[in-house]
Amino acid sequence: MAKVFIIGGAGKVARRLSRQLAQGSHEPRALYRKPEQADELASLGATPVAGDLTTLTAEALAALIKGSDAVVFSAGAGGAGMEVTNAIDGRGLELAVEAARIAGVARFLLVSVFPDALRDEKPSEAFENYIRVKKLADAHLVATDLDWVIVRPGTLSDEPGTGKVRADVAIPYGTVSREDVAATLVAIVEHPELNHAIIELTAGATPIKEAVEQLARR
Ligand SMILES: NC(=O)c1ccc[n+]([C@@H]2O[C@H](COP(=O)([O-])OP(=O)(O)OC[C@H]3O[C@@H](n4cnc5c(N)ncnc54)[C@H](OP(=O)(O)O)[C@@H]3O)[C@@H](O)[C@H]2O)c1
Repeated sequence: MAKVFIIGGAGKVARRLSRQLAQGSHEPRALYRKPEQADELASLGATPVAGDLTTLTAEALAALIKGSDAVVFSAGAGGAGMEVTNAIDGRGLELAVEAARIAGVARFLLVSVFPDALRDEKPSEAFENYIRVKKLADAHLVATDLDWVIVRPGTLSDEPGTGKVRADVAIPYGTVSREDVAATLVAIVEHPELNHAIIELTAGATPIKEAVEQLARR
């Protein structure tokens, strides 16, 4: 049983993660910022924890995180513009990293992005900024002494989960359901020996537990 603190806890990946963690007898705690989100998070089996990444200090966030076995950072600006991307996906990640270190919680899972996502589409300034900020967030986390794992999913969908993925340090770009991303995060939580790993993730043919076990054995 693991106590997992989820930042961006009301997000679409995060809600699926809370539900799956609770079903697996783990204890998810979900950071949210809109009062109306609390009841749904509780109904998924999470303990709702109120807080906003743009106003919390690292010390205040650390006090919320303290006692957790792992932090999952799945917050994001969700297309709200470059300033918000910089504030949440960028500075928000840095704040969360600092808070985890203050709280003494070493295990840190980051939901990042495929670096070559949507390369075949016309580039927009906002998307290029998003990819750059996500990469810098990865680099920030990698340079810490935390037990980090970075998951880089392909383009996310709300399709039902298949229970199968392709997951490795480098794979071709593709799509993946949020349900399967959440299931992969659960499996990573359950394999604390898997750390200092960057995992690209798409839909695939390998059962999720098996895919994560293979990575953990390396
Ligand atoms: N979309 C894709 O295809 C794709 C592909 C690869 C990776 N990703 C990444 O995957 C992650 C999860 O995606 P998702 O679809 O679950 O995203 P999502 O539904 O937009 O969830 C992001 C969460 O971050 C929260 N957040 C935003 N600002 C915040 C703040 N100031 N303080 C605290 N929380 C804040 C949001 O809160 P509210 O609910 O209050 O708005 C939201 O719940 C994101 O980091 C995204 O960049 C996305």
